Amino acid sequence: MSASNTERGAWSSKFGFILAAAGSAIGLGNIWKFPYITYQNNGGAFVLVYLICIAAIGMPIMIAEMMIGRRTQKNAFGALRELGGKWKFLGALGVITGFILLSYYSVVAGWTLEYFFKSLAGAFNGLSQQEVGALFGEFVGDPFRQILWHFIFIALTIGVVVGGISSGIERVTKTLMPVLFVIMIILMVQSFMTGGGGQALTFLFRPNFSELTFDSVLEAVGHSFFTLSLGMGAIITYGSYMKPKDSLPRSGLIVCGLDTLVAIMACLVIYPIIFAFDLTPTKGAGILFTTLPVIFAKMPGGAVFGPLFFILVAFAALTSTISLLEVVVSYCIDELKWKRKQATMIVGAAIFVLGILPALSNGAVDSLSNVNIFGKASTAGIFNTFDYLVSNWFLTVGGLLTAIFVGWRLSDSLKDKEFHEGKNTIIHYKIWDFMLKFVAPVAVALIIIAVIFLGKEFN
Ligand code: PHE
Repeated sequence: MSASNTERGAWSSKFGFILAAAGSAIGLGNIWKFPYITYQNNGGAFVLVYLICIAAIGMPIMIAEMMIGRRTQKNAFGALRELGGKWKFLGALGVITGFILLSYYSVVAGWTLEYFFKSLAGAFNGLSQQEVGALFGEFVGDPFRQILWHFIFIALTIGVVVGGISSGIERVTKTLMPVLFVIMIILMVQSFMTGGGGQALTFLFRPNFSELTFDSVLEAVGHSFFTLSLGMGAIITYGSYMKPKDSLPRSGLIVCGLDTLVAIMACLVIYPIIFAFDLTPTKGAGILFTTLPVIFAKMPGGAVFGPLFFILVAFAALTSTISLLEVVVSYCIDELKWKRKQATMIVGAAIFVLGILPALSNGAVDSLSNVNIFGKASTAGIFNTFDYLVSNWFLTVGGLLTAIFVGWRLSDSLKDKEFHEGKNTIIHYKIWDFMLKFVAPVAVALIIIAVIFLGKEFN
């Protein structure tokens, strides 16, 4: 870290980076989104495609993004300009994607706060599944509470990012991630005791390929980028605060492994409840909020586990929102020479304003809730439109271009040196490079082409 740019900062320890990157990766994508899109896409086959995407596409690209960041010690835009000249457009795409992503992500993050207080107050006690579902509908339809929680969540994110890298982001992440892990294990055990565990495992791990469409394959690819925080510069940005001695492949493997573990665990918390209580949850964004309160109200200690769970999900979301905000903020600090505090406040405020649209589009304002530009059942409303655009397209294209850039544009000598820094006995350089050059670009490009040209016929 050059002394001349003290506004940037750096991780204070080796684990600082791994934990922060894992904190960025593990978030609502794992605990809220993965369970519901897996449910929408009928389980098994979708999960298998997702796991293949993580290993064959996501992990190589994660290492590539870490490499770009650590090598240049710059924000996503500056990093790509330094290494690739015109490729800086890819950095710009990332900054824009981060902006839009955070605007609706923060809305869901806000829901977890409301649910923390609701479960603390015992609001679900004695309610039937239908009543819990109705409560959720009523909540997301309330404009005041939607905007309030979204505001609070952006404010919390600003609060951490203003603190900077080691004393803000690193410290918060370090304490919270391990606690989340433990609580999820406890919940998983509780959930299995309902008797629905067997069915949940079958649903998740027995693939039925006749239920797979090109659209769901694209969604699996897009989600593998979403959940690993790839394709938009977050890992480039976090990598830029990394010290030169850490091993990139090892860090990549650990972060991808932890992220996948939490996503599967989240399904194993939620699905047994669905099967055991014979719930037919609406196939949408509310699953987390309409299933779990049911079990919290019934299980021993639920009055403690309920609020604890929602507050931890809020923290997991916070460690992701800070990485999203940091992408845009580090751009403003490096490129526009703003002070950290000023950059954080202005960018945060702008994202809050944009987020009012998705915040009001889950029932609060009819016109925002009903627009459907892409005409699919899952893209109704501004909220779903933003998510569809970002997750399925922006991140996918961003990830594809990152793979092409690092695979084809960066020199072998640079890559080889960066790849072997630190102890690395895990992944072979040639295999990683082959994945980036051929496997990831060809697979992602084919899927995009298939969706564009064949999508309709196969739906
Ligand atoms: N990976 C985060 C999650 O799964 C979301 C995210 C995406 C964060 C992109 C940063 C960048 O919740």
